[in-house]
Amino acid sequence: MLILGIESSCDETGVALYDQERGLLAHALHSQVAMHRDYGGVVPELASRDHVRRLVPLLRKALAESGRSLCEVGAIAYTQGPGLAGALLVGAAFAEALAASLGVPTVPVHHLEGHLLSPLLSARPPRFPFVALLVSGGHTQLMRVSGVGDYELLGETLDDAAGEAFDKTAKLLGLGYPGGPALSALAERGKPEAVKLPRPMLNSGDLMFSFSGLKTAVLTRVREPVPDAQGCADIARGFQDAIVEVLVKKSFAALKASGLKQLVVAGGVGANRELRRRLDAGAERRGITVYYPEFEFCTDNGAMIALAGALRLESGAVPKTAGAFAVRPRWPLAEVSG
Ligand code: KG4
Ligand code: ZN
Repeated sequence: MLILGIESSCDETGVALYDQERGLLAHALHSQVAMHRDYGGVVPELASRDHVRRLVPLLRKALAESGRSLCEVGAIAYTQGPGLAGALLVGAAFAEALAASLGVPTVPVHHLEGHLLSPLLSARPPRFPFVALLVSGGHTQLMRVSGVGDYELLGETLDDAAGEAFDKTAKLLGLGYPGGPALSALAERGKPEAVKLPRPMLNSGDLMFSFSGLKTAVLTRVREPVPDAQGCADIARGFQDAIVEVLVKKSFAALKASGLKQLVVAGGVGANRELRRRLDAGAERRGITVYYPEFEFCTDNGAMIALAGALRLESGAVPKTAGAFAVRPRWPLAEVSG
């Protein structure tokens, strides 16, 4: 069956076509980064309006690329939450209306489930069960993934998400939005150990995280004396090293506690090169295999939503719609388990 996937939870509009037999056929993406940059962050109302403008052209593009036609679509998967309410509503309304007109079912997808399953799009996918480190702009979680819809939360952040910490710290350093990629590029030029920042909850003995204190630590460093260009790079390096060390240590602790040998890294921060370097180095020593989604599937995209929809259909466990056009801006992942 051909599944159309729609993603519109935040500032990226994603459309993809996934064939249950042949895999991903096409995906089209529009990032709103340039539009939000002037405001220093995502403006929800502008995001919703832009999703409205982009969906139809992206769908046309994906269809053309796949060589398939709309009438071949057998189901439509869309992000029902969590995310920005208005932005989610655009995708949900589009998907539900299109599905009604085609006479096909819809599959509401949890955005984080899309991220969790996205490494399955690779040529060399992991096998269930595995541990997943989910590091995005809104979430930082360690999960045990035993199968489609079978997720156990092992630990999460008590305050800021890893991506949020990157974005807020980037702002303090005068870097633009989105801050994560800019901050990590700056960190590559920083001297190791020049700026030593705290490693929050590194030795807490559990799998919880806390990142809000780190940005406060950075704040005191950028105030006085005001750092020069190299000083900023050193702070960025110190920040990145701190956050990466905590993420790496807790990921290996989660693997050890669960006795599993596969780690999946998903979400935007999974694109961070230093995180990848350190995970790979530690994994080799421990006989662990780390799986990353392709770079293009690390951040938000329609392909992971189409895939999650396809796997949900195969497993026969399609989550209940919260009612046509209803979205769930706040939606704990634990509720979709079992
Ligand atoms: O998964 P994602 O696209 O959106 C959410 O669902 O949140 O993740 C976006 C987050 C942003 O906070 C962004 O700054 C961060 O991922 N990010 C990075 C990098 N690339 C994206 N953080 C650190 N290093 C990167 N290279
Ligand atoms: Zn995301």
